[in-house]
Amino acid sequence: MKFTKTSPLRGELSIPGDKSISHRSIMFGSLAKGTTEITNFLQGADCLSTIACFEKMGIGIENNGDSVIVHGNGLIGLKKPDTILDCGNSGTTTRLISGILAAQDFDVTLTGDDSIKKRPMKRIMDPLSHMGADIRSLEGNGCAPLAITGKKLYGIHYTSKVASAQVKSAILLAGLYAEGETKVTEPYVSRNHSEIMLKYFGADVSTEGTTASIRPAKELYGNRIVVPGDISSAAFFIAAGLLVPGSEILLKHVGINPTRDGILSVCRDMGADITLLNKNTDSGEPTADILVKSSTLHGTEIGGSIIPTLIDELPVIAAMACFAEGETVIRDAGELKVKESNRIEVMVRNLSAMGADVTETEDGMIIRGGRPLHGAVIDSKLDHRIAMTFAVAGLCAEGETEIKGAECVNISYPGFYQDLERLGR
Ligand code: S3P
Repeated sequence: MKFTKTSPLRGELSIPGDKSISHRSIMFGSLAKGTTEITNFLQGADCLSTIACFEKMGIGIENNGDSVIVHGNGLIGLKKPDTILDCGNSGTTTRLISGILAAQDFDVTLTGDDSIKKRPMKRIMDPLSHMGADIRSLEGNGCAPLAITGKKLYGIHYTSKVASAQVKSAILLAGLYAEGETKVTEPYVSRNHSEIMLKYFGADVSTEGTTASIRPAKELYGNRIVVPGDISSAAFFIAAGLLVPGSEILLKHVGINPTRDGILSVCRDMGADITLLNKNTDSGEPTADILVKSSTLHGTEIGGSIIPTLIDELPVIAAMACFAEGETVIRDAGELKVKESNRIEVMVRNLSAMGADVTETEDGMIIRGGRPLHGAVIDSKLDHRIAMTFAVAGLCAEGETEIKGAECVNISYPGFYQDLERLGR
């Protein structure tokens, strides 16, 4: 796929559903009694992997495109699948489902694609094992494939070294089935969609500071879920709208949960003209329309507690920083190395190929902005967020940018290129 400089981007866009919330709506809907009707479900490959896993465990799921109906079977209603469960490219599927499977009365093997088989699973294996789970890495390398044999679990208070919603959620889901209370303390608060939706489905969940707690549930109850637009997908249009001169874009019904909205604060710190309109709440999640107008940006410093609130947006923020005046420093973002690709390495290599002045650091990068970028051939490493980031960078660079593996955007945003083209007309 090739990109060149574009004319102003103008118009309105409905951003597809939030990936994290879509996953959870299938998982928790499957464990609930009764029906869960999900609107604006993300039809990305990751969420379809979650649907396929639960169908294999006997859950009836009607996927009608925009809406999905899950016929939950209750907390102890999952059945042993006939085959290995394939989580595809999805870390959320792999890690969250492990917490659920640790407590079932059957054994199962989980696997995924080449990227998933390299991602660290010890971070969930350790706490789940402390709870009594039998979970093994079949290659002995702390990665998938994972063999899980359901066991009786006991509540623990786990202090996690990383701020990770996937780790926290795996433990809380195991805690639904455990004897006694389960608590997770993180260094910083990570996204809290599990806590919000579990509560919405009737679970006894509470939070205090950076600690989330859950008591075992007798049942969860199905409910209607309206999935907000994914702020991580909106991020590419926020960046494009700010960077392409003369642009004005209205992004409709986007989730602005404070554990996810760090990109808005960073953009404002950089001098962005962003306005939130029509603030609302859907199924416990705050939403707004986001109005973005092209702006002159300057560098900023990003680190500490804001990192988990914008972890998936850091690639596109790094690209934005190349077009901002002055220096941008990103620190405390070592987690980027264990995402779908090593996002520090891949960003630094590809931005440098476009002529950016960027240095890799131990836990982030330093970008000296203001140099014009030129087109280059970009290896996306089949990482959806890298492909979308460089599509945006390509719209602002001199000459042609070619993205290899561009189709990987299907993981989180199947219509991304069409939406981008529509705004450019
Ligand atoms: C996710 C949590 C984040 C994020 C991922 C989705 C989730 O990962 O990067 O894209 O749905 O819980 P970590 O919590 O491991 O940082």
